[in-house]
Amino acid sequence: MDVQTEKLNLKREVGLVGAVSLIAGTMIGSGIFMSPQTVLSSIGSPGASLLVWACCGALVILASFCYAELGTVIRESGGEYIYILRTAGPVVAFMLIFSSVLFVRPAGVAGISLSFAQYVVAPFYPDCAAPALLVKCVAAVSIVVLAAVNCLNVRFAMSIQVFFMVVKVLALAVIIVGGLVMLVRGHTENFQDSFENTNLAISPIGIAFYQGLWSYDGWNNLNYVTEELKRPEVNLPRAVVIAISLVTGLYLLVNVSYLTVMTPMELMSSNAVAVTWGNKVLGSWGWIMSVAAALSAFGSLNGTFFSGGRVCFVAAREGHMPAILAMAHIHRLTPSPALIFTTIVSLLVLIPGDFQSIVNYFSFTAWFFYGITLSGLLYLKIKKPELHRPYKVPIILPVLVLIVAVFLVLAPIIDNPQIEYLYVTLFIASGAIAYVPFIHYQLCPGLLTKLTVFLQLFLEVAPAEKNL
Ligand code: ARG
Repeated sequence: MDVQTEKLNLKREVGLVGAVSLIAGTMIGSGIFMSPQTVLSSIGSPGASLLVWACCGALVILASFCYAELGTVIRESGGEYIYILRTAGPVVAFMLIFSSVLFVRPAGVAGISLSFAQYVVAPFYPDCAAPALLVKCVAAVSIVVLAAVNCLNVRFAMSIQVFFMVVKVLALAVIIVGGLVMLVRGHTENFQDSFENTNLAISPIGIAFYQGLWSYDGWNNLNYVTEELKRPEVNLPRAVVIAISLVTGLYLLVNVSYLTVMTPMELMSSNAVAVTWGNKVLGSWGWIMSVAAALSAFGSLNGTFFSGGRVCFVAAREGHMPAILAMAHIHRLTPSPALIFTTIVSLLVLIPGDFQSIVNYFSFTAWFFYGITLSGLLYLKIKKPELHRPYKVPIILPVLVLIVAVFLVLAPIIDNPQIEYLYVTLFIASGAIAYVPFIHYQLCPGLLTKLTVFLQLFLEVAPAEKNL
């Protein structure tokens, strides 16, 4: 087992460039090819839609400054989980990991795979929406294929990642350049009276932000691996600024391009914006955009699978996860149990879900826990001012972001209560209930041990150290 002892001392190997691509590569995925039409149709006007995209960027950059302070005060890897564990305590941390493993991560996987599927089938249905069943089947196939790749070979999964990163930046660049050319040629008619018809009700604003923030999700990715980052106190804030401003800039320009080329009506009625854009600008080469958007989603899906193992591992180390989910294959060193588990739950989420609702519930749950994490930062700032802080943000920042997070979580519930949000809330709360028997009283350990041993032999896995 010398492989394991080698891995015990994780080296700090991620530099600034690696850190930036870790963030930007996760952020750019499906959202920018799927959400612009929903943002626009909820908020009502092109001007307000651009404003929402800009505000989402501003929000995540402020939030990530707060996370940078957290990441340099609490230097362990594990993101929200470890911050909540060290500030709010084990019950809330367990609620997070419970929701994350059973819902947030699978929902992320399901959402991205739906975007992939939508773009794969779009060229075959130029004039109408593709059948929902077909889209779901293609999405399911993509999940199973990627899970298999990730179970078999880590290195292959990693090279897939780099290739897709290049493809998606190129695709965004093509969209931006195409749009700018049109703009320079004087196609500015869609920006006249650009705030007309803005919908100022609370719930649509909330939904527009949920959709926009989905495209920005992944901004906190570096906090999951702080232990592997070189000089985190310098590189964490720096990488965050570079990556998030880059992505915000790209997203804004892409949206300007979409709005230049398509009328708001066309944009809102498109199932796959990049394809509609491609058909109008690239003519018979329009299908290229479909391929690029599909590849972008595919890469994001791969990354989401790839990084999934870490939080599970940290939580299993704290006894908050069945040990089996933090194990890796003895030869391939891939976290197959966690991958298989996520695949099964993702397929279950896929059955009833469509892209928009999956994304809304994802953002709702994610921002619920981002909010709790930020209150943890406030707690540390007020109660433990003596802690060593190599990087510090003014207290107003977490206060501000926390207020927005509370708004984001409460807005759709208060303004336009839908029973689904109640279910999601009950589900998050049920984590606290599950905590009592399973973690506090350690009920049914015998059964769990037997199951673990069986699965361990069946899947050929063993406890692994962190860098799954
Ligand atoms: N921002 C990504 C996209 O637009 C989704 C990221 C999902 N979250 C994650 N942590 N992988 O597709």
